[in-house]
Formats: sequence, C-alpha cells, structure tokens
Amino acid sequence: MWNAFWSVASFDRIALDPVTRRLRRCASVDDYRHIARRRLPRGVFDYIDGGAEDERTLAKNSSAYTDYEFVPRVLRDMSSIDTSTSLFGIDLSMPLVCAPTGFTRIAHSHGELAVACAAARAGIPWSLSTMGTRSIEDVAAVSAGSKWFQVYTWRDRSMVADLLRRAADAGYEAVWLTVDTAVLGRRERDVRRGMTLPPKLGPGTLIDGVLHPAWTWDFLRHEPITFANVADYDTDDGSTAVSLAEHMHRQFDDALSWDDVDWLRSVWDGPIVLKGIQSVADAKQAVAVGVDGIGLSNHGGRQLDDAPAPVSLIEPVRQEIGEQAVIICDGGARRGSDVVKAVALGADAVSIGRPYLYALGAGGERGVDQLLEFFREGIERTMALTGRATLAELDRSLVTRRV
Ligand SMILES: Cc1cc2nc3c(=O)[nH]c(=O)nc-3n(C[C@H](O)[C@H](O)[C@H](O)COP(=O)(O)O)c2cc1C
Repeated sequence: MWNAFWSVASFDRIALDPVTRRLRRCASVDDYRHIARRRLPRGVFDYIDGGAEDERTLAKNSSAYTDYEFVPRVLRDMSSIDTSTSLFGIDLSMPLVCAPTGFTRIAHSHGELAVACAAARAGIPWSLSTMGTRSIEDVAAVSAGSKWFQVYTWRDRSMVADLLRRAADAGYEAVWLTVDTAVLGRRERDVRRGMTLPPKLGPGTLIDGVLHPAWTWDFLRHEPITFANVADYDTDDGSTAVSLAEHMHRQFDDALSWDDVDWLRSVWDGPIVLKGIQSVADAKQAVAVGVDGIGLSNHGGRQLDDAPAPVSLIEPVRQEIGEQAVIICDGGARRGSDVVKAVALGADAVSIGRPYLYALGAGGERGVDQLLEFFREGIERTMALTGRATLAELDRSLVTRRV
C-alpha cells in the first residue's frame, strides 16, 4: 500500500509568501479577475471591471472572438516559434501592447511603475494615460522599455502641447489620441456606488475598506493618488474627490474634430494612433488625415453600449485601408489565442487593459509579469497547434467565421 502511495505522492513546498500562493492559483485572466474581485473594495473593482449601461459591448468585446474558429494545419515543423514583430520601427517580442488606463494605482499602490517595468521585461510597449497616477518622468526613470503616451484633447491645448513635449523629452515613442470620449459613458456600477476619484470616505466606502483590509492598508501607507501628469497645471489634480463624470466634463473638449489631428501633428513628431475608431468610414478618414495607426476600440465597452466589438472590425477595416496604417485591436482579448485570431484577421497587434489591472490587483508587479507570460505562452502554443511558426504566416486562411 505504501509503495503505491509513494509512487504517486508529490508535495509542493508550501509557499509562505501570500503573493506566490495567490499567483500559483492563476491559470487564466478570469482567475486574476476573481482574486482581484476578492481583494479590492467593491467600488474599486467595479470601476475597473465595469462597462457602460447594460454592458452588452463589454461582454461582446470578448465573446466576438468566439465567432472565429481556427483552420489548423498539421505536420509542419514547429520546433521554433517566432512571435516577434515591430510597430513604427519599435521591436516587440510579441504583438501585444499595454493600453493606457487612468488611475492605475487604484488597483495597487505600485500602479504604473509596476506595469511599465513588467511590460519592459516582456519586451512590449506600455502606455501612460493623461489620467495616470504617476508622472511621465517618474515612469521614464524606472523603465527603459518602449513607452507610449495617451492624450485626450483637453480644453487647455497649451497643457496638452506641454505634456507632449515632456513625453518626447522623456523618450516616449508614440502617442494615442483617444477619440471616443466626447462625453463620458454612463457606467452604471459607478453611478450606483457613487464612485469618485480618488475614493471619497463615506459610510459605504468605509465599510468597503474595512472589509478589504489588505487593499486599504496598501492604500493608506502610500502617498495620496493624484492625476500626476496634470498636477502642475492650473487644473484639477485629483487630490480632491470629484465624480469622474464631473471631472471629465470640466476638462475634456467635446468640440474635438478631425482638424485637431492636424493640430496634434503640429506638436508631436512621432507616430500617432487614433484610439477609438469604431467604423470603416472613420478608419478611412483617419488614413486620409495621415495618422500612423488605428486603434479599433470602444474603450473596453466603457463608452457607447452597443458599439461594435473591435475584433469584428479588423477585416473590413484592413480591406478598406490596405497597408496604409497600423491596426491595433483593443478590447476583449483574454488569451494568446485571441491575439493570434486578431493578427490573422489583419491586425498588427492587440492591446489589453483590464487583464493587467486584474493581475496588478491580484499580485502587484509579479502578477503582471505572470500575466504577460501567460499571453506569450498562449500565442506560442496557438501558433504551434495551428501550424504557423511566424507571425507572417498568420493570415486570413487561419480563421473561419463560425456558422
Ligand atoms: C480602469 C480603466 C481605465 C481606463 N482609462 C483609460 C484612459 O485613461 N485613457 C484611455 O484612452 N483609455 C482608458 N481605458 C481603456 C483602455 O485603454 C482600453 O481601451 C480597454 O481597457 C481595452 O479593453 P479591455 O479592458 O477589455 O482589454 C481604461 C480602461 C479601464 C478598464
């Protein structure tokens, strides 16, 4: 009996470190999400996790990937898989980009610094939001990896021009201009919870905080969260609690138009990606005004509910614009196989937001390292199982629309 027992017994050393224990349990993005949901106060988790109105677009962004199936080929030499690519002359170890997320430190005190360092180690670009909680320069001081900066067009153009000058001086390589935020989408989870940025202490948030002591302890031990990039300007730096909708309404220019892309070109020399293109017609116009990249995106389902899933736009947009601009598919990707599908349909890369925020909430910087490795392994495995050794072989023949 003992012989039989010992032949199958295998005891992993028990990890004393709680982060290691948590991360060992994460096998998919959904696992990071579950742990983040347990650790973060409900208001914080819902701010990250939620979408606009009935969240149909939020759900569709991911489920639309299942509209496509692979057409695998076998008996090809898969002993060496190469996932590397380049965007705007920047080398990437895989076709993945970390999208900009505002208020990143709400997931974990290390926030942007942790994600930027993890992305640099993974060999992929990371993006800083105008609404970021670490300054352009602070991130540049810790990460030599590829950094992109995201701007909204604020009413105060001189401030945007100055931010872009600072980004260029600090070595940021590309700019996202987010164009899907003429007004803020109605995120009903935030409305219900009275979500403010930074979180405002009231009886509800106090109880929420007490019920999530690890997050609260981390939050209280570090310097207050502010909109670090705009803190030096004559604007709201986020140090007082305001509702997000109120803040956006005050700062964003809802008269933004195609002429503003010309203006952006006059103050930024590097590549420009329009983030928030949601139709073939606008993709065509974006190419006509000379942008370098098209970010097919609906802000992760946080703006217009019933906007199309970005993955469903890749093929028609690529057909319309040919090779005139880079296409980045943003929203809903949760596995390496999703990235492979997007590239096969004609995207140059995929960007992710919530997956790294969940990983950050679940395990800090190490969580993000592990998550990016999960995507890399997923891309490599899918390529091996579909018989494609390089990204150049990921073409339309690899996927078919499920009937
Ligand atoms: C918490 C959160 C904050 C975000 N903040 C910004 C932002 O400041 N600027 C921006 O252009 N997009 C922002 N986004 C959208 C992301 O850049 C990206 O489009 C989206 O997360 C992609 O969808 P995914 O989360 O399904 O990967 C944010 C998304 C989340 C979840």
